[in-house]
Amino acid sequence: MKIGLLTSGGDCQGLNAVLRGVAKTLMGCISDLELYGIIDGYRGLIEGEWRKMGSEEFSGILRQGGTILGTSRQPFKDMQTLNENNTNKLDMMLSNYKKHGFDGLVIIGGNGTHKTAYLLSQNGANVVTIPKTIDNDVYGTDLTFGFDSAVEKATYVIDAIHTTAASHGRVFVIELMGHKVGWITLCAGIAGGADVILIPEIPYDVEEVLKAIEYRNKSGKNFSIIAIAEGALTKEEAELSKKERNNLFLTPGNRLAKILSERLKQDVRAIVPGHLQRGGDPTATDRLLCSRFGAMAGELVKEGRFGNMVALRGTEIVPVPLGEVAGKLKSIEEDSQFLHQAKSLGISLGTPDD
Ligand code: F6P
Repeated sequence: MKIGLLTSGGDCQGLNAVLRGVAKTLMGCISDLELYGIIDGYRGLIEGEWRKMGSEEFSGILRQGGTILGTSRQPFKDMQTLNENNTNKLDMMLSNYKKHGFDGLVIIGGNGTHKTAYLLSQNGANVVTIPKTIDNDVYGTDLTFGFDSAVEKATYVIDAIHTTAASHGRVFVIELMGHKVGWITLCAGIAGGADVILIPEIPYDVEEVLKAIEYRNKSGKNFSIIAIAEGALTKEEAELSKKERNNLFLTPGNRLAKILSERLKQDVRAIVPGHLQRGGDPTATDRLLCSRFGAMAGELVKEGRFGNMVALRGTEIVPVPLGEVAGKLKSIEEDSQFLHQAKSLGISLGTPDD
């Protein structure tokens, strides 16, 4: 039985733990198994680049960050675009899949990856997927792996900034990852005790941010911490077209810091931890989730239950049909308990009803 493994899209902590989980499970239950590591995600499948892997390659990688297979971004929108050879990436992948005689693929990735995986599955490839991303925005699962590790890193930054902000009586704007959704910012913001949390799902009012800082100053707190997602927008910015937004000067955190420094007497600083949030070892919680996801994916392959993503629902790992997942985003809903609780804790979300 020939099974291909691939990791696709932006990397995150736990990819190797998942690969190990899948490999251990498959090696333990399929006697004629041939396992192939496809290089750099869909790129390797498009170009026919993979290597046969033995059990030794999966040894000692449980806690290793990054991915031993490499990864790349291959946008879904380009998958069916005709190229100079009058073919497209989807057809090239399907043709390589058939030519090599793959019996199945375990595809590990985020939202874009899932759209392509569903397309492959609809076109005859046997596919099981595993939801990966620090953003935690894959629909159909309570958590994606990588998220816990990223929140840990982001919370560390907020913690560390607290002491220097307090010493100098400064306002710090900490810009965290998440273009479309604010899960990292909201969760790390709550865990790190941020005073203001600004997320892409809720366009914010600068005046409300100023009010929250002034309120803290009046109550004797001479510093404030603002956690802002890289996709957060002011009310005014949210009205702009996508093209106009792409032309905005500076990043959201730096834009806000600039505005605040013009309006406040306090010093204002911005910090962008960036890819640090995706680097390094996975947390124990992520390693556990990765190992459980990997085991379930291996079991699904063994049982021939293709066309599914493994998902966390409550405390159970369950299969969810790809058709229920692909193309949907798990953003923070307006009535989310997380938002309600953030407000109860006195955190400003940059809106008048805080
Ligand atoms: O999807 C994960 C993520 O880290 C996002 O939070 C971030 O917006 C994006 O990837 C960054 O992408 P790249 O690594 O390509 O700069």
